[in-house]
Amino acid sequence: MKKSMKLNVLLVAAMATVIAVTTAFISQDKPSDEIDAKVQDLLAKMTLEEKIGQMVQYTGFWDVTGPTPSEGQSKRKYEQIKKGLVGSMLNVNGAERVRKMQEIAVNETRLGIPLIFGLDVIHGQKTMAPIPLAEAASWDLEAIEKSARIAAIEASAMGQNWTFAPMIDISRDARWGRVMEGAGEDTYLGTKVGVARIKGFQGDDLSANNTIAATAKHFAGYGFAESGKDYNTVDVGLSTLYNVILPPFKAAVEEADVKTVMNSFNTLNGIPATGNKFLQRDILKGKWNFDGFVISDWGSAAEMINHGYAADLKDAAVKAANAGSDMDMESYAYVDYLKGAVEEGLVDESVIDEAAARILRVKFELGLFDDPYKYCDVAREKELLHHPDHHAAVLDMARKSMVLLKNENNILPLKKGQKKIAVIGDLAADKDSPLGNWRMSADANTAVSVLEGLEKYADVKYARGAKLLNDNNTNFFTELDVNETDKSEFKEAVQLAKKSEVVIMVLGENAYHSGEARSRSKLGLPGVQQELLEEVYKVNKNIVLVLMNGRPLTITWADEHVPAIVEAWQLGSQSGNAIADVLFGAYNPAGKLPMTFPRSVGQVPIYYNHLNSGRPTSDAIFWVHYMDEEVTPLYPFGYGLSYTTFEYTDLKVNAEDAEAVTVTASVKNTGEVAGEEVVQLYIRDRVASVARPVKELKGFEKIKLAAGETRTVTFTLTAKELGFYNNNGEFIVEPGTFDVMIGTNSAEGLAGSFELKQSL
Ligand code: BGC
Repeated sequence: MKKSMKLNVLLVAAMATVIAVTTAFISQDKPSDEIDAKVQDLLAKMTLEEKIGQMVQYTGFWDVTGPTPSEGQSKRKYEQIKKGLVGSMLNVNGAERVRKMQEIAVNETRLGIPLIFGLDVIHGQKTMAPIPLAEAASWDLEAIEKSARIAAIEASAMGQNWTFAPMIDISRDARWGRVMEGAGEDTYLGTKVGVARIKGFQGDDLSANNTIAATAKHFAGYGFAESGKDYNTVDVGLSTLYNVILPPFKAAVEEADVKTVMNSFNTLNGIPATGNKFLQRDILKGKWNFDGFVISDWGSAAEMINHGYAADLKDAAVKAANAGSDMDMESYAYVDYLKGAVEEGLVDESVIDEAAARILRVKFELGLFDDPYKYCDVAREKELLHHPDHHAAVLDMARKSMVLLKNENNILPLKKGQKKIAVIGDLAADKDSPLGNWRMSADANTAVSVLEGLEKYADVKYARGAKLLNDNNTNFFTELDVNETDKSEFKEAVQLAKKSEVVIMVLGENAYHSGEARSRSKLGLPGVQQELLEEVYKVNKNIVLVLMNGRPLTITWADEHVPAIVEAWQLGSQSGNAIADVLFGAYNPAGKLPMTFPRSVGQVPIYYNHLNSGRPTSDAIFWVHYMDEEVTPLYPFGYGLSYTTFEYTDLKVNAEDAEAVTVTASVKNTGEVAGEEVVQLYIRDRVASVARPVKELKGFEKIKLAAGETRTVTFTLTAKELGFYNNNGEFIVEPGTFDVMIGTNSAEGLAGSFELKQSL
């Protein structure tokens, strides 16, 4: 009885919050603190132009260690900084460079307001961690937080105070290249991972010299680009918006106190995110009381013209500012038009005051007014970049990120004395691709290659087999030139495979196959790699396929033929060492897929937590299926094997007397080695006023079990897990029957059910 009352109370509280919100620009009920007073004090001294200046962000435009710019756009930007008309810079990297630029703002402007320096520190600064999607596969929140902490330590040592990370866009579309930057398809996992990353970046004390402000991006819906094409239209229903897309952002604000939020390039149901008042004013700053600031995405204010939402740059400035986009990244809209817009009455000065106050507040919180050069210590930079502790941590993270997809007849782990090992594939020797995309500060070709890692364990022989790209001289800005024709090296690889006992094939994507603007319409192994795999298979079936990629791939043929498959993503600086540790059994893999792997591109978007259709199954042809493809995925969400096995028994649900529903199950390590298992809990709300998914992750725990050991795992379900958002954006919990499943992935496990009685 008491339990149900608690659920009721929680429900009422949740609804009350929804009703109590206002759409005020700045929440009135936040206690004004010391920083607020300082902000107001400073604002009172600023001219309109200076306040607008705080809302302007430019990318680095000259090498501050060289002569000052004397012409063109660079000169203009330089003059504006000197006049205090710029609030922030991005892409100025290095303690010395940042100091030099900060000196201009502090010493040469009227009020000496320091700049805030931002950079895309996505998965490491110099010491590179696995790409974010890979890290999410670890389901290890502590390790993920630590990884972000290390990135912050190194980035802050290079002068940065702010990262444009984490990307917390949920995405169900493997064609979208930016899935590599997020935590995959699931809102529950994505929320937890996002919160961990923000905590890692921001630490306990934002004013410390080794913590940086984080950015929750991209607000909102960017991961739902139609047909997986980057920048494309986003048109989603309210239930998806409230239940799938928004919760990670809400948690970023309410649980992790994220300091900034980036809006996005896309339109959301016809309105560009940058000019979207509903998203930025009503929800983010209104309902959620966000007190940091909103940064636009690169040029996204100007892009509203192409979207057909703004007539010209002036109109874009007006619409973006009024909608709550506080800082303009590289659109030149605010710097050129906001002052005039205020004078003409198109934008109220209170909008400018609010935006400038929000930005100044974060600068105060970072401690930039106390010491604008706190991140600019060259000695500290030297000491911390590539620190051995950081390499140890990213190695640990890399091992934890791998997912064992297949291991027929326990071909893995390889025995220590294993002889005649062939290694095939361009990516095996690649020291660059493991660094992934979005590695602004990383030095090219600095990862440990798979070959280098393996050589520490065994005497291996290598044949490339085929080049992946025709031109390896590639970067963030260039299109890839994939080798689609040259098979001249096949023969050598096939001959090597023929005389070897085991063949390790390292295949997949180049670093720049995923990331921004890297959408793909095909999800197989690029170029001639599939053919190479099949040619090698003809002479030696003992293949261990190591996949290196930034997104789910349709590796259906490999799954049918190749005995062992390891998903090794792009694992960062220590990639090769981590992979070798897994292949030789020094580390027992425990990663689980954060995204469903499709059998073919036609299945995309494919995700585990879909709604049921009215025709889920049938003997006749009239049900939800393809005539030429299975309905099941190749590998489901949450899937991943280990070198040991786990048995689940004794599912028990207690929904009677406790204050919440508790669900327990026993998990036994039934194999011969110790191993870790991510125990997953899913629920289904059978009947609801807005139909709920067939399954939803609502809990997980990573446990380590010695061989033969059994552990009981307990999950607690409260209103937070059992409720959902209706189409008015209100969080509700409805009584009724719930199914509950505990298992090793989203498709296998023990099932039970319980009644949620709310009437008491
Ligand atoms: C991306 C953002 C990124 C920004 C700054 C944009 O193209 O969409 O995620 O933070 O550039 O580099």
